[in-house]
Amino acid sequence: MSVILGIDIGGSGIKGAPVDTATGKLVAERHRIPTPEGARPDDVQAVVAQLVQHFGHTGPVGVTFPGIVQHGKTLSAANVDKGWIGLDADALFTRAAGRDVTLINDADAAGLAEARFGAGAGVRGTVLVLTFGTGIGSALIHDGVLVPNTEFGHLWLRDKHAETWASDRARERDDLNWKQWAKRAGAYLEHLELLLSPDLFIIGGGVSKKADKWQDLLVPARSKLVPAALQNEAGIVGAAMIAEHRLSAQPA
Ligand code: BGC
Repeated sequence: MSVILGIDIGGSGIKGAPVDTATGKLVAERHRIPTPEGARPDDVQAVVAQLVQHFGHTGPVGVTFPGIVQHGKTLSAANVDKGWIGLDADALFTRAAGRDVTLINDADAAGLAEARFGAGAGVRGTVLVLTFGTGIGSALIHDGVLVPNTEFGHLWLRDKHAETWASDRARERDDLNWKQWAKRAGAYLEHLELLLSPDLFIIGGGVSKKADKWQDLLVPARSKLVPAALQNEAGIVGAAMIAEHRLSAQPA
């Protein structure tokens, strides 16, 4: 059994737990530390170090980030401090954790976990995982293979980035009831369906805990749609999966 520490950096909390990557199950209780005000790189790396210490973890670590992650660098920061843009965050976290760290976009991590162990397990074809929270994250997966950094939350819709109009934060900000929010989310999904023809939409993020409020209101014309199954564990599990994947890809 391979146990890897997964850490999920979110807008309000940074959560971690050791994960059995063969089953996707957490092997110890999740630990959450509030995200430091402003989510600046230095403060966030200190929390990552604290989580590694909390679990006394000695193996590799996977970490999610709510922005574009390419070749270990963080390249966007829609909802966190702009100091992340262009930063070698992989190196920063590797120093902080004192061990090998693999970095992945938060929605990509959630998507990998849902596709393997959650609502998309065993589904072939195109699965589009969308996380509705502070922003909108996306993960595009075909036959289990992820196309990273799709950033469909920034699709230009109604003269705005879709996430500023249809995220869970937009629902709260504009004081929308579920029907009003579902109207916006439905228009967004309709556009994505036209562009990508997914076989399955998986809806995750904050709204997935309240699926009974919107499930009957979000019915795409051609694609199936289900709420995420792993909810707030998906990022942690996906982070551990990607760290394991990097490990197994290394020459012996
Ligand atoms: C970011 C994405 C992220 C999503 C959810 C968006 O604003 O650009 O990278 O996955 O928020 O956190």
